Amino acid sequence: MSVLVTGGAGYIGSHMVLELLDAGEKPIVLDDLSTGFRWAVPDGVPFIEGQCGNQDLVSRVIRQHGVTEIIHFAGKIIVAESTSQPLDYYDHNTSQSRNLIDCAVKGGVKHFIFSSTAAVYGEPKANPVTEDEPLMPVSPYGRSKLMTEWMLEDASRAHGLHHIVLRYFNVAGADPKGRAGESCTIATHLVKLAAQAALGIRPALEIFGTDYPTPDGTCLRDYIQVTDLARAHLAALIHLREGGSNLVCNCGYERAFSVRDVIETMKKVSGINFEVKTSARRPGDPAAIVASNTRVREKLGWTPLFDDLPTIAKQALDWERRLHNRRAHGSGTKE
Ligand code: UFG
Repeated sequence: MSVLVTGGAGYIGSHMVLELLDAGEKPIVLDDLSTGFRWAVPDGVPFIEGQCGNQDLVSRVIRQHGVTEIIHFAGKIIVAESTSQPLDYYDHNTSQSRNLIDCAVKGGVKHFIFSSTAAVYGEPKANPVTEDEPLMPVSPYGRSKLMTEWMLEDASRAHGLHHIVLRYFNVAGADPKGRAGESCTIATHLVKLAAQAALGIRPALEIFGTDYPTPDGTCLRDYIQVTDLARAHLAALIHLREGGSNLVCNCGYERAFSVRDVIETMKKVSGINFEVKTSARRPGDPAAIVASNTRVREKLGWTPLFDDLPTIAKQALDWERRLHNRRAHGSGTKE
C-alpha cells in the first residue's frame, strides 16, 4: 500500500513521513514547497513538486505510485493572514482540497485522512470542547477547513470514501530524534517564537493580550507534541484499514496552558531570561480552547507519549538551534 502525503515537506507532514517510515510504510510526498523544504523529505522517499489541486498531476501520481491512501496536510495555516487574504485560503484549503478529493474518488483511493483544526469551533462556550460542539469558525481559515470536512462527509456518502478528520489543537515541539521540526521562515506560533527569543534570534517575545478572563489574563491553549499528532494519524490509518468507521476526532492533551506558562517553561528549559513585552489582543484569538480527547483515545486507541510542556519546549529549542546553525552555514533555506 502506498500512502500519499500532501504537504509532506512541511512541519507536521514531515513528521508524518518519519512516522510512516518508522512503521515500515511507503510514503510518497506531494508538496509545492511554498512553505515546506525539499531537504525535509528523507532520502529515498518519492517526492513530487506540485499542488494538491492539480488534478492531472495528482491523478498521474495516484496511478503511477498505486496510491491507496491519502493523508492531506497541504494548506495555509495562519489565522491572521486568512482574514486579510481570505480568497487565497479558500483556494488552497477548500478548492484545492476539492480537486484532491475528486482525484481520490476517481482514482479508487480507499482511505483519506484530513488535517483540520480547532479553529472550526471558533470561541467555544465550554472547555474541554468535544467534537459534537457547535461549529462556528470565526476566521476564513477555520471556515476554509470546515468546508473541506463537509466535502469529505458528502463524498463519503455519495462515493464511499472512507475518511477521518483530525482537528488539531496547538501543535508544537519536534521529532524526539532531532530529524525534523518546525522550519517555516515566517514564524507565528508561540512555542517556536519563544524558542527564537531564548536563542536571541528575535530580541523579545510579545504577549498578545493580558486582559483575557483567564487565571493570569493570557490565552489558554492545549499544546500537542507533533510526533504524538503524527501517531494519531497512523492510528487513524490502521483504524480505517481494519474496517473502522469514518470519524472526526480532536487531537490535544486536554490540558490548558497560558501564554505565560509557555514563556516561563521556555525560560526554564533554556536557562535564558529573555525579554517579554505585552501588547494588545491579537484579533480572532479565543480566550481559551482545550480539546476533549476521549474520542481519539477510545476510538483510535491513541495514548500520548510526550504530554509534558517542558519536553515540548526543549524539543522546539533544540530544533531551532539546529535550524539556525544550518541556515547560518548556508543551507536550510529554499533548495
Ligand atoms: N501569542 C503571543 N505572542 C506571540 C504569538 C502567540 O502572545 O508572539 C499567543 C496568541 O495570542 C495565542 C497563543 O499565543 O493566545 C497561541 O498562539 P499561536 O499563534 O501559537 O496559535 P493559535 O492558538 O493562534 O493557533 C492555533 C493553531 C491554529 C488554530 C487555532 C485555533 O495553530 O491552526 O489554534 O484557535 F486554528
